[in-house]
Amino acid sequence: MSTVIVSQDDLLRYHSLLASLEKRISAMSSELGHPLTYLVKTYGCQLNESDSEKIEGILQSIGLIEAEESAIPDFLFLNTCTIRENADIRLFGNLGAYKINKRQNRDMFIAVCGCMMKQEENVARIKKSFPYVDACFGPSDIHLIPEIIEQKLNQRKRVFSVSEEDYLVEDNFIPVKRKRKFRALVPIMYGCNNFCTYCVVPYTRGRERSRDSKEILKQLKSLAEEGYKEVMLLGQNVNSYGHDRPDEISFAELLERTAQIPGFSRIRFMTSHPKDISEEVIRTMQKYPNIERHLHLPMQSGSSRVLKRMNRHYDQEQYLKTALLFRECLPDATLTTDIIVGFPGETEEDFQETLNVIAKCKFDSAFTFQYSRRPGTKAAEYPDQIPQDVVTERFGRLLELQNDLTFQSNQSMVGKTEEILIEGRSATAPDVLTGRTNSSRLVNFKIPKGIQLDGKEINSDDPNFDADELEGRLCMVKILKAKPYSVEGELERFCE
Ligand code: SAH
Ligand code: SF4
Ligand code: F3S
Repeated sequence: MSTVIVSQDDLLRYHSLLASLEKRISAMSSELGHPLTYLVKTYGCQLNESDSEKIEGILQSIGLIEAEESAIPDFLFLNTCTIRENADIRLFGNLGAYKINKRQNRDMFIAVCGCMMKQEENVARIKKSFPYVDACFGPSDIHLIPEIIEQKLNQRKRVFSVSEEDYLVEDNFIPVKRKRKFRALVPIMYGCNNFCTYCVVPYTRGRERSRDSKEILKQLKSLAEEGYKEVMLLGQNVNSYGHDRPDEISFAELLERTAQIPGFSRIRFMTSHPKDISEEVIRTMQKYPNIERHLHLPMQSGSSRVLKRMNRHYDQEQYLKTALLFRECLPDATLTTDIIVGFPGETEEDFQETLNVIAKCKFDSAFTFQYSRRPGTKAAEYPDQIPQDVVTERFGRLLELQNDLTFQSNQSMVGKTEEILIEGRSATAPDVLTGRTNSSRLVNFKIPKGIQLDGKEINSDDPNFDADELEGRLCMVKILKAKPYSVEGELERFCE
C-alpha cells in the first residue's frame, strides 16, 4: 500500500471522461425513452457516507437521476463497511436479493465498493459466487468511477479495479450531492496510522493523508456562503491532522479558523483519539460558541492493561485526565464514547475497571460494541478470545450502567430552553419534528398553536403541515420530558 496524491492533470482527464459519459448516458436514455437511474446504499460510518455523497455527485454529473428507494435502479452502488463481522454478513445477505433485480433488468449495473473491497477474500468471493456484480473498487478509488463505468459499457466485462494505492484527491475536484440541506460532511484527512489491534481501518483505508488546509478552508467558506449551517470535519483521528505534512497547521488551528468563518452555527468534528487530543483543542472549543458543545472521545476500555494490548497509547489515568479537563472547561457540554466489551484477554477485573471509569466520566451516551474478531488484525491472533456467553453477560451489565447514565443526562435537561437545529420529521410521528441541541442531543418536539414563521402561523397539528420544509432552521425548544435515548419538548419560537 502506498499513498498517491492524484495530479491535476489526471483529474482533468477524469473530468473530460465525465463529459463524454454524460453524452453517452443521455443517448442511452433517449433510446430507452426514460432517464437512467441510480441508487447508492451506504453501510458504514460518516466517512463512508461522505464517500457516498461523492459517488452520487459523480453519478448525477453524468446525467443519472436518483431512483425511488423501492425501485430497481439502472446503476446500483453498494458502499460497504467491514468494521465488525455483522457488516460483512449484511452485505452478502443483501447481495443475494439483488440477483432477482438483475434478472428483471439485465442491463442493470451493480458495483460493490467501500472498505470490504480492500480485503482480497471479499473480492474473491464476489468474483466466484456473485457473477451478477459488474464492478468492485476500493474506498479511495471514487475518482475512477467514470473510467470503471466506461470500461464496463465498452467491453461488457466485469471490472475488478481495487487499487493497491491509497489515493488523495482534493474534494474540490469531485462533485458532491449532499444528503442533508443543512449539514456538510467535510473530510479533512483520510486513512489511519494507529493500528489498534482489533481494527481493520488501517488496512482498508491506508495511511493517514491530510488534505491541504488552504483547500479545506476555501471549501468551508463556499459551503458557509451556500447556506450550510452545520459542518462536520471528518477523519479517523482528526487530532493528528497535518502530522503527515511538514508545514501544515494543527487541528486546533484548523478548528479555530473554521470557527472564524461567518455563517456556521454548528461546527462538529469526529473522531478524536484520546492519545492525540491537545488541551488547545479544548481551549478552542471554549473560546468559540459555534463549535459544538460535544466531544466524542472513544475510550474502548477502562483497563490500562487492555488498552495496552489494544495498542491505544494511553492508559486509564491519561484518559480520565482529558475527560475531566473537558468536563471542567465545558461543564454544559456532552461527552460521549465508544466501548468494546470482550476484547481478548479481558478479565472480570478489567471489565470492572471499564465500569468504574464510565461511572467517573458519566458519559452522556455511548456506542457499545461486542468485540468482533477481524481477520488480518493482530488481536484476531490472540489466543485468549473470550467465550460469547461471557461477552453477552458483560455487555448486558455495561448497557444497564450506560442506559442509566444516559437517562440521568437527559433528565438534567428538563425545564431548560435550548437552541435546536431542525433535522426534519421524527421517525415516530408525522407531527413531531426532530433536531439537535448544540451539545448534539436528540430532541423530538411539537409546534403548538400560535407560532409564527415568516409572517405565517405554523402548527404541527395542521393536516397540511410539512416538517421537511423546516429542515435546517434554528429554533428555541423548551425541554419537557426525558426519555431513555432522547428528550421531548415544545417549540417556543424560531430564531430567524
Ligand atoms: N477512529 C475511531 C474509531 C472508528 S471505528 C477511533 O479510533 O476512535 C468506530 C468504533 O468501532 C471504534 O471506536 C470501536 O469502538 C469500534 N470497533 C472497531 N473495531 C471493532 C471490532 N473489531 N470489534 C468491535 N468493535 C470495534
Ligand atoms: Fe481503528 Fe484505531 Fe484507527 Fe480508530 S484509531 S480507525 S480504532 S485503528
Ligand atoms: Fe466501516 Fe470503513 Fe468506516 S470499515 S466504519 S466504513 S472506515
